[in-house]
Amino acid sequence: MTRAGASIQALILAAGKGTRLKSALPKVLHSAGGLPLLEGPLRAVQAAGADPVTVVVGHGAADVEAAFAGRARFLVQAPPLGTGHAVLSARPLFAESGGTLLVVYGDLPLLRKETIEAVLAQHRTGRAAATLLTAVLSDGAAYGRVLRDPTGGVSAIVEAKDASPEARAVREINAGLYAFEVDPLLEALDRLEPKNAQGEYYLTDVVAGFVARGLRVAAVQAEDPQEALGVNTFEELAQADRALVARRLRELMLAGVAIEDPTSTRISFDAVVEPGARIRPFTFLEGRCRVARGAVVGPFVRLENSVVGEEALIQDHCLLRDAVVEAGATIGPFAHLRPETRVGRRAKVGNFVELKKTELGDGAKAPHLSYLGDATIGAGTNVGAGTITCNYDGAAKHRTTIGAGAFVGSDATLVAPVRIGEGAYVAAGSTITEDVPEDALALGRARQVVKPGWARARRERLGVAKRHR
Ligand code: UD1
Ligand code: CA
Repeated sequence: MTRAGASIQALILAAGKGTRLKSALPKVLHSAGGLPLLEGPLRAVQAAGADPVTVVVGHGAADVEAAFAGRARFLVQAPPLGTGHAVLSARPLFAESGGTLLVVYGDLPLLRKETIEAVLAQHRTGRAAATLLTAVLSDGAAYGRVLRDPTGGVSAIVEAKDASPEARAVREINAGLYAFEVDPLLEALDRLEPKNAQGEYYLTDVVAGFVARGLRVAAVQAEDPQEALGVNTFEELAQADRALVARRLRELMLAGVAIEDPTSTRISFDAVVEPGARIRPFTFLEGRCRVARGAVVGPFVRLENSVVGEEALIQDHCLLRDAVVEAGATIGPFAHLRPETRVGRRAKVGNFVELKKTELGDGAKAPHLSYLGDATIGAGTNVGAGTITCNYDGAAKHRTTIGAGAFVGSDATLVAPVRIGEGAYVAAGSTITEDVPEDALALGRARQVVKPGWARARRERLGVAKRHR
């Protein structure tokens, strides 16, 4: 038994190839609910207080380690010869310390900390040599079956591929989460043999080993069998994704976020959405977004690592990546805010407007059809329809700076680097290549020529009538 209050060390097994996904990406890096599969068990185990946590890696070890660097210890199992072999290869880590070891499979993305705590609590009070998490399914499918003796005690786990028809009919399955007493575990691991359909060292065989030696094996049944979902195929990955997204949305709705259509909405676990925000249908919040109270986002909007301030409005069909929209601003419909964009308080970005590395000041407006890149635009400035910053000369990017309270007429072409002073006025249709001083008017277009009667003379020359319809 572990001393009360002492933390328990955990092993997460993630060395398998994920053969059934037929993918070059290691299985635990495939994502569900916007996070790599391994995040679920890792966060749950850490939230349950396990320390240290070691991840056993094998296939794609370098990629898995890179994705989770600094978050856990890593141990390489090479080559992976089965779940029992994975635990055996980590033996030096826990053999000395004794006590209780938590073992969790890395492909259980729905696992919750409460369930791990329930298994650990049962393990302590039941004084068992091993306690495992099980689930009762309508069809045990490819999972290992949990066999019980006539008194109801766990007697063995049989893998589906090795099971007799009677065993296959059992609906209680092994979820892949165990608390083990280290000393008997080490003895049982030493006796494992790969004599089974897959030629692997099964961790599950430890159970029958314990029972044969008269050691008690306890089990906790998951309240929600869905939590035992182990991802082996893309179908299961999609199931896990759906369940995780639903879980996240439920959490947010209970906290007071108005989600109009949970079936078409996705919000990442790393997003912060304040109560009182409204998320309209077909809207995706990916990565580390923040949406403040009173903001309305959607429909058909995707935010990636972006911030939306209080009462801001992100209208239909916008894409925002690494952008900040301050309180009360209005974006869209059909706007594209690219990385390092900041839209000030009560500013407005209208339809078919793209911003990149651009700061649009408080109350400034770019209402229609513009590209504003590498620009700083002062407060209250109006950027007319069709204004383009020519920020790229084919080799380098250059900045456009527009002071506060300026007026840029429609269809202006601002050739960077260029500065337009505070309160200045740029005539519609101008191509601006030189700086415009404060409060000046700049005209950068050919003077209009009017030739009276020219059109009538042409019609007469060609013998055509004026069209009225
Ligand atoms: C395993 C269990 C099965 C259980 C199911 C729950 C065994 C023998 N079977 O089957 O009883 O119902 O999980 O989902 O344990 N791994 C390693 N090293 C290896 C092999 C696997 O680290 O050598 C890792 C995998 O990356 C994976 C986990 O262990 O994260 C489980 O392995 P997997 O091959 O998915 O086992 P299942 O066939 O699903
Ligand atoms: Ca599995």
